[in-house]
Amino acid sequence: MSETPQPADLIVFGGTGDLSMRKLLPALYHADRDGLLAAETRIIAMSRGGLDDDDFRGKVDAEVRGSVPVDDLATWQRFLARLHHVTIDISGEDHTGWARITALLAGHEQRDRVFYLASPPMTFGPFCRQVHRAGLVTPASRVVLEKPLGRDLASAQHINDEVGAIFHERQIFRIDHYLGKETVQNLLVLRFANAFLEPIWNSLWIDHVQITAAETVGTPGRRGYYDHAGALRDMVQNHLLQLLCLVAMEPPSRNDRESVRDEKVKVLESLRPITGGEVDRFTVRGQYTAGVSGGVQVPGYLDEPDSTPPTEASQRVETFAAIRAEVKNWRWAGVPFYLRTGKRMPYRSSEIVVQFKDVPHSIFPGSAPNRLVLRLQPSEGIRLHLMAKEPGAGEVALKPVPLSLSFAETFTARVPDAYERLLMDVLAGNPTLFMRRDEVEAAWRWIDPILSEWESQSLLPEPYPAGTAGPAGAHELLARSGRAWHEEESR
Ligand code: BG6
Repeated sequence: MSETPQPADLIVFGGTGDLSMRKLLPALYHADRDGLLAAETRIIAMSRGGLDDDDFRGKVDAEVRGSVPVDDLATWQRFLARLHHVTIDISGEDHTGWARITALLAGHEQRDRVFYLASPPMTFGPFCRQVHRAGLVTPASRVVLEKPLGRDLASAQHINDEVGAIFHERQIFRIDHYLGKETVQNLLVLRFANAFLEPIWNSLWIDHVQITAAETVGTPGRRGYYDHAGALRDMVQNHLLQLLCLVAMEPPSRNDRESVRDEKVKVLESLRPITGGEVDRFTVRGQYTAGVSGGVQVPGYLDEPDSTPPTEASQRVETFAAIRAEVKNWRWAGVPFYLRTGKRMPYRSSEIVVQFKDVPHSIFPGSAPNRLVLRLQPSEGIRLHLMAKEPGAGEVALKPVPLSLSFAETFTARVPDAYERLLMDVLAGNPTLFMRRDEVEAAWRWIDPILSEWESQSLLPEPYPAGTAGPAGAHELLARSGRAWHEEESR
């Protein structure tokens, strides 16, 4: 990133939606407060909302101000003054909004111009065509695409073609906010800036890897989206597979935009396909029913309050998914990678657990294999569980003790939210932490057969009560090989 922030126009399509209000605007405010936005930088929300600039500023004042630290009113006012709103008709029939945005951007063609599409994927192509028709795509333009990119490989390819007809691949930033999380960045540093791990980072020493993203939240108000997504599309195809790539990839030759992404694609292409009858053996899907979550009685997925009533699709959608994946290459042959994600789990926790093999010959009773836990949230940190002797005379008694790095205790600097880091990377034109077209498509290529097998079955997802750790099948997935999910530090 250059030292002096350059003036930019950030145009957020879907700018009054949930993502914008909850994540993007708070992230931009933090960046502004830290002096990372140039004085002239503008944030232009586009939506169907019929708001003018003042309405939008009032909305942000009412809805965002409470969620960010406003220690100085002048900074907050400066942030509000950056905001604009343009009411837009994506079909292009009503030209008023397009004329307004054209006027707003006129004379600023030299600035970095970022179109952030915080809208459903089927709007990506039409939006890009409209901005192109309006002559708004400059050489310094970039476009940011929110996940999920499509519903399967074919729709992802279609969207990529549509966007690619207007923007060059180097201008396209496909965002996966997990890649902006601090511990995810740290995973690369841990692996490639320390010598001791690399010799044991393989099937000779590692028994298996677990990647979990557990959430306590349910999906109230999200049925319209979630019925068509489900956990596999919402979390596994992107977030969990990205984490798997970072654990499994070979050391890149440089930390630059292409080298890291080249290595990630190789991992995705090495995933052993799970097809046909294997889908039932290696995958589990569940849906939460009513239960007690965080001490409160909550409804099941089908009864979540929502303006969209449940349909047949709602019964079939998974709110929990677990998969036993394998990376078929020299380094990882025979090492299972267990992926798991769910809503309404007993705790919120995203973590990567690398379970090492036991010592080849144990001379002490009670020894247990080492385990490395990379905690993404909450309380980011890294823990290496070692065996130690319990103090005392008499027989040697062993106890697993953690070598622990807590980011909050070790570093006092504010940890930027994932969106803040990624937005700053977009403004700086650095795509390293964004997904390339071939990456997204390789991920869909592996997910597609699982999706189609699930969709062809009459079987519904296994129920699990809200507040529990997923359906029984998820435990059996590991128990079959004498393993168990790592739960202990998640509370
Ligand atoms: C989003 C999903 O991508 O990630 C949500 O659409 C999910 O369903 C969210 O809740 C989880 O993100 P985080 O950063 O809270 O783990």
